[in-house]
Amino acid sequence: MAQQSPDTDLEAHVLKFPEDFTWGAATSAFQIEGSPRADGKSPSIWDTFCATPGRISDASSGDVACDHYVRYLDDVSLLSALGMASYRFSIAWTRVKPGGVGPTNPKGLDFYDRLVDALLAEGITPMPTLYHWDLPQVLDDRGGWLDRSTAEAFADYAEAAVTRLGDRVGTWTTLNEPFVSANHGYVTGEHAPGHTSLAEGFAAGHHLLLAHGLAAERIRSLAPDARLAIVLNFTPQQAASSSDADLQAASLQSDLENRWYADPLNGLGYPTSGFDHYGWDGSQIGDGDLDLISAPLDLLGVNYYTRQLVSADPAYAQPGHTPRNTMGWEIHPESLGQLMRTLWDRYSFPSYMITENGAPMPDLNRSEGRVDDDDRTAYIRDHLTELHGAIQDGCPIEGYLVWSFMDNFEWAEGYVPRFGVVEVDYETQTRTPKQSALWFRDVARTNQVVLEPERLTYRGRP
Ligand code: FCB
Repeated sequence: MAQQSPDTDLEAHVLKFPEDFTWGAATSAFQIEGSPRADGKSPSIWDTFCATPGRISDASSGDVACDHYVRYLDDVSLLSALGMASYRFSIAWTRVKPGGVGPTNPKGLDFYDRLVDALLAEGITPMPTLYHWDLPQVLDDRGGWLDRSTAEAFADYAEAAVTRLGDRVGTWTTLNEPFVSANHGYVTGEHAPGHTSLAEGFAAGHHLLLAHGLAAERIRSLAPDARLAIVLNFTPQQAASSSDADLQAASLQSDLENRWYADPLNGLGYPTSGFDHYGWDGSQIGDGDLDLISAPLDLLGVNYYTRQLVSADPAYAQPGHTPRNTMGWEIHPESLGQLMRTLWDRYSFPSYMITENGAPMPDLNRSEGRVDDDDRTAYIRDHLTELHGAIQDGCPIEGYLVWSFMDNFEWAEGYVPRFGVVEVDYETQTRTPKQSALWFRDVARTNQVVLEPERLTYRGRP
């Protein structure tokens, strides 16, 4: 075999991304803001959930979190210093409409108004998500996502946010991960409001999608130039063997986890297994709902963390030897590349963005003012490598946002998992960019990933 020339060799190790590719970071309101009662905010289902003994593994709450409501200007400066071109955050419904429905609270919107202005002043594109799981408790008291009226209330709340911020926001995202809202909130009970019923999961899921569709209509009419997006999570379900039984089990699970929301959004309706295998009666689907839900989107946000191996055998155990993050999720970058090709093949969304990807790591390799999180850097690098391959194959992927900008409240796991590229000392609220953040800054600035085997242990500038 002919020897590679040094030039080719070098090129093979530099992954250049498309010129207009977007680099950034993501967070969500409940996970970072704190200030639960400031300026008229009302409690959300997550405040209630945290106050219920046994729900959060470290018995913590979002009361302080990263104190971002107070420190947002410093956080925006840090985003800028780290070269983030885009910042995905969420708006708390409970700040904007403390009653869930009814009067808008201008003070709650003031906060996001100031945040958007601060971002724009730093040249950072604001990417707000309207719903990242923090339903007003008052609405849960009236049935929450089990009640159709919550979808209508969401559209009114969306209207208030778009009316106030629409002149400065170019892309509106309605929901974050409706699968997790419905599944963890209503089926497994791991998340607020903590119910455990498969039938409720289907009802909640439909009302979430309806909320998206109703809000989409308002956004289109109030901000006709804005782009419309939704963020879905995907966990590729791969058969543990090539047996028919395992293949079928994986496909059924994929209907629930991966196609349940993307299919109807794309005009394909709900997977039929929902009715003939899982037993949903579909009674919540009203006339015209599926048309509303499938109104064209400009962008699909994709959250990817891990894959799952599925077996028809209930005794099957996931392989123990594969690399995993501190929450036990397998690290499997290849599945991101495959996922993007599958989505591009199956659906007709015009554009995709990775709106969350990242990993909680031990972050134990540290010295004064420095966190050497080579494992996180490697995780991001390997996922970007896969993404680059998918882009080379023609997938229209416009950006990558790391989860998360900073360590934060990881839902039922509390503050133990640390997902940030920026460390947060919860005693002092000191922010320290980890080495992964400095590596990512260089990637963002140069628009390329350099694969240098000798830099597996990355030593960025402090
Ligand atoms: C996603 C959520 C996000 C964060 C990451 C780790 O499912 O959207 O808030 O918790 O997982």
